Amino acid sequence: MSLDAIVARALAQFAAAPDAAALENAKARYLGKGGELAAFRPSGTAEERRVAGAAFNAAKQRVEAALEARRAALADAKLNARLGEEALDVTLPARGHGRGGVHPVIRTWQRVEAIWQTLGFDVAEGPEIETDWYSFTALNNPENHPARSMQDTFYVDLKDEQGIALNLRPHTSPMQVRYARMHSPPIKVIAPGRTYRVDSDATHSPMFHQVECLWIDEDISFADLKGVYTDFLRRFFENDELEVRFRPSYFPFTEPSAEIDMKLKGRWLEISGSGQVHPTVVRNFGLDPERYIGFAFGSGLERLTMLRYGIEDLRLFFDGDLRFLAQFP
Ligand code: DAH
Repeated sequence: MSLDAIVARALAQFAAAPDAAALENAKARYLGKGGELAAFRPSGTAEERRVAGAAFNAAKQRVEAALEARRAALADAKLNARLGEEALDVTLPARGHGRGGVHPVIRTWQRVEAIWQTLGFDVAEGPEIETDWYSFTALNNPENHPARSMQDTFYVDLKDEQGIALNLRPHTSPMQVRYARMHSPPIKVIAPGRTYRVDSDATHSPMFHQVECLWIDEDISFADLKGVYTDFLRRFFENDELEVRFRPSYFPFTEPSAEIDMKLKGRWLEISGSGQVHPTVVRNFGLDPERYIGFAFGSGLERLTMLRYGIEDLRLFFDGDLRFLAQFP
């Protein structure tokens, strides 16, 4: 077989190889150890052998060059195929941007702040990871007292720098103590924020929001608390006739304590806990309970929101379902 014929066949087989594996098989047939070119032995006179050797080298180079070219072409084709698969069709119309809105609970938060600010109250925020002392002890919940279990608290497996146990605050009431210890009376403050309890059903969520209020002065009375809270509810619900009642209740940090109810569609609904700040708590503020009198309340922001918009299931607030959220554009 002539060298030219071998080269022609090698080139044809390389060109026909559909992929890299087929190409390497074809290569072995021509350039490999037992391949057709390896069998070549020049013979004859020295001059004849020189001419044959040069022809052989030229033939081998043509085969090698064809192999390289085909390898590169196959690699290119593979890359192009992948790029083709991954291609983005930039001519497709965009999906468009949804318009965001303020979350209904945050709307309530903002609305509550705005109303209390017009009533002369400051707004304060405090830590969500709280010490035992602020969450309970300072609020007249003695250690080991069963009243502590009224709240299904998340205890954190950490202690602060002083070795004091930490919890996720189960209410915003610790802010009464933090704020009062840093300000002097008269004190008028609300403290909205996130709170946490081991609790989850249609009307409870492990994370929820409250707004706390503290009002301390020398000569105020329960009537002042009733007045401002009723005013607040009427403005919040945009109903000047809204009926509000204070019903005796119990909280460790207030004495007397009251549950605040409002009338909606003929039914009384609980909306807030409140009371006159307990003398022990006033003392923990660093104030003299003989001189200062304080009133406080704590309301749930989810509850206010549910009543305002007629929402029945609190879990809707946290599902992130756009069909719900889009109703608050
Ligand atoms: N901290 C109470 C709770 O989470 C609510 C509360 C009741 C707050 C009475 C108050 C208060 O400030 O006076 O259930």
